[in-house]
Amino acid sequence: MARTMTELHCHILPGIDDGAKDIECSLALLREEKKQGVESIVFTPHFNIDKISVEDFVKARNNAYQKLSENEEFKKMNFSTKLASEVYFSVSLDKANLDDLCFGSSDYILIEFPFHFKPHGLTYMIDNVINRGYTPIIAHVERYDYVSKDPTILYDLVERGCLAHVNAEVLIRDSSKSSLPFKYIKWGLVHFICSDCHSIEKRPPNIEQGYSIIRKKLGEDYFDMLTGNAERVFNGKRIDLSEIKKPRNFFGSWI
Ligand SMILES: [Fe+2]
Repeated sequence: MARTMTELHCHILPGIDDGAKDIECSLALLREEKKQGVESIVFTPHFNIDKISVEDFVKARNNAYQKLSENEEFKKMNFSTKLASEVYFSVSLDKANLDDLCFGSSDYILIEFPFHFKPHGLTYMIDNVINRGYTPIIAHVERYDYVSKDPTILYDLVERGCLAHVNAEVLIRDSSKSSLPFKYIKWGLVHFICSDCHSIEKRPPNIEQGYSIIRKKLGEDYFDMLTGNAERVFNGKRIDLSEIKKPRNFFGSWI
């Protein structure tokens, strides 16, 4: 594959969340990322402001990264890396300084929503975060029941200034072009894919398989656009959000 891959959502840092439990698990995931053609990685351990302060989380995350960065094999892999987090939705985010949770020194911040109910205050929190100069990236939009039932929720979030991604896994599991994740991509509502890898056994790095399916089903232009977007986000650059389509319900299916 000519283009290098960029991983913007993963749980590779050792011993900090439900991802890699130690350095060995981290290295196994990193070896697989390498095999998949990934050269740039943003480390995004889970963060929940209702359970831990930003300061304590950042301390723990930086310690986990420090351990990894002292490892000789990791050094030789020569990845470009950035630190960030996968921030769980909370209305309390409105008063917190989120700078240290963003992708490196950029304003991109990965945000995860509850899976089964649309949280109260969703647009308030998103507007608040955007108005403070951050750009939210909505994590794995295919996992939210209420978005699958009503994709105009996703449209509204992107229109407000959010980016969004799907996990590669959903494209691998259902590679039918008529499934919603492919439609999100075609509507301009999903901007790249991530592996969200946690472990080699259960949730491995699979970004190359995901992008291969995009190439096959949607063509080279979409592949270039999505991988290019991921690269731009990694480098803290803006991406083009001009072409978005509002989903319409036509006799029970979203078009
Ligand atoms: Fe995740």
